[in-house]
Formats: sequence, structure tokens, C-alpha cells
Amino acid sequence: MRTLDDRLAPVIAHRGASADAPENTLAALRAAAAAGATWVEFDVKLSRDGHCILLHDDLLNRTTDGRGEAAHYDLDELRRLDAGGWFGHRFRGELVPTLQEALALCVELDLDINLEIKPCRGRQHETAISVVKELHQHWPGDRPWPLISSFAIASLEEVRKLAPEMPHGLLIGRPTRRALGMLDRLACSTLHCDAKWASAELVRHLTESGRPLLCYTVNDASRALRLLEMGVRAVFTDRPQMVAEALAARDARQGQ
Ligand code: G3P
Ligand code: MG
Repeated sequence: MRTLDDRLAPVIAHRGASADAPENTLAALRAAAAAGATWVEFDVKLSRDGHCILLHDDLLNRTTDGRGEAAHYDLDELRRLDAGGWFGHRFRGELVPTLQEALALCVELDLDINLEIKPCRGRQHETAISVVKELHQHWPGDRPWPLISSFAIASLEEVRKLAPEMPHGLLIGRPTRRALGMLDRLACSTLHCDAKWASAELVRHLTESGRPLLCYTVNDASRALRLLEMGVRAVFTDRPQMVAEALAARDARQGQ
């Protein structure tokens, strides 16, 4: 089986192709595949009754027609919400996906996954435990594990303990010395940081320990190219098609 570094693609569709379809929905995953992306990132948290769902914010307000904390609703209540209408009329009726549905669709569309554990307050352990359990139950044994990431250290510790076979990366805004010092302890395969803190020096430092650097969120194609030329292994973008086309045009210019 190929290593994670070999498998990674330079372009990762952020929350699906979230400039083309409502973020963290099945439509956004389909849009990513239609845009030619081979990797998608999405955010996972828990319903009140402990089911893994795709959602970025703790609150339902921005991306659904619901109100208040997602963690205050059971899955069957969340499934009655509309998670697409806010983005555009034609997406009305999109549901808040379950992780199980998203995994099945990614297998069908042959998409590699960066699964971000995005726990609601106080649920860092429980969310990681549920994610690992669902991956163990539903992820096909003949496919490489999704890359897991989180800002929540407690979630990464749980992944490390329960599923050391699953590659996981530390998500961070600014890669401080303290954050870099945690990579070994958490057995991280990757570092994911805000693109504004990427530097050639950081790439060099990470390369010494064989860790790719992934940067979010880059919606400007020339900036994406500069980062990739610097040695950043992948960029998260809401516009995967635009970035991939810019990359292809650069490669064509360079005669590759
Ligand atoms: O995983 C990269 C990126 O998604 C992290 O930030 O807030 O978009 O989940 P956010
Ligand atoms: Mg995310």
C-alpha cells in the first residue's frame, strides 16, 4: 500500500467543494468529485445522542434552517433540517449528512478523506471514540484509512490510543515551537496550519521528521502555487477546480 505522503494530492476540497455547493453536505462531496478533486476534507461532530454528523459550527444557524447548538439535538431532529437552502435554491432538501453516509459516498466516488474531528465543547474524547468506532465498522478494509486531523489535542490522543493504525495530523493556526513539540508525542503523520504561517523553514523542519505540511484555506490560485512550490504538500481550498487548473497550466508551461 502507498504511503500517506505518496497518496496525498496537492489539492484538497475544503468541506467538499464548498464554493460550488453547501459545505459539509453530500452535494459538496459530489461537487468535489465533479471538479476533479481526489481528496476531500470535512468536519465531524456529534448529535446529542452520539451520532457522528458532518457540520462545521457548533451552532446550526449559519448552515441549516435550525437554531441553536447542534449538540442539543438528537440525530432524528437534525435530519429534519435543511442544510442546503441557505446556499442556493437548488440545494434545498440537502440533509446534514451522517458520517456513515459520507464515508459510503467517498468510497463510491473514490475520494480520499481528511476527516477533521471538530468536537463541540467538552466532547473531545467522546467524538474521537465515535469516529474511530465508525471507521472501524464502516471503512472498507481494502482502502487506506482516511487521514484524521483535529485542533483538539484530547481527540488526537484518543485516536492515537484507540487506532494507531489511522494516520492523524495536528491542526493548528500558528505552528509555534510548542505545537511542533507535540507532533512526536501525538505520533502525528502530518501538520496542518493556517496558510499565512507557512514558510520554507517550516517545511524543512517538518521534512526532517518525514511529515508533510498541509495548509488551509487557500482560494487564490497563485497563492496556492507559491505554497506548493515552497514545499507545502497540499492546500485546502473551497475551489478545487480552479486551483487544479492553475497547477495543470503551470505544469504544461514547464513541459511536464
Ligand atoms: O482542516 C482544515 C480546515 O478545515 C481547518 O479549519 O475551521 O475550516 O475547519 P476549519
Ligand atoms: Mg475543517
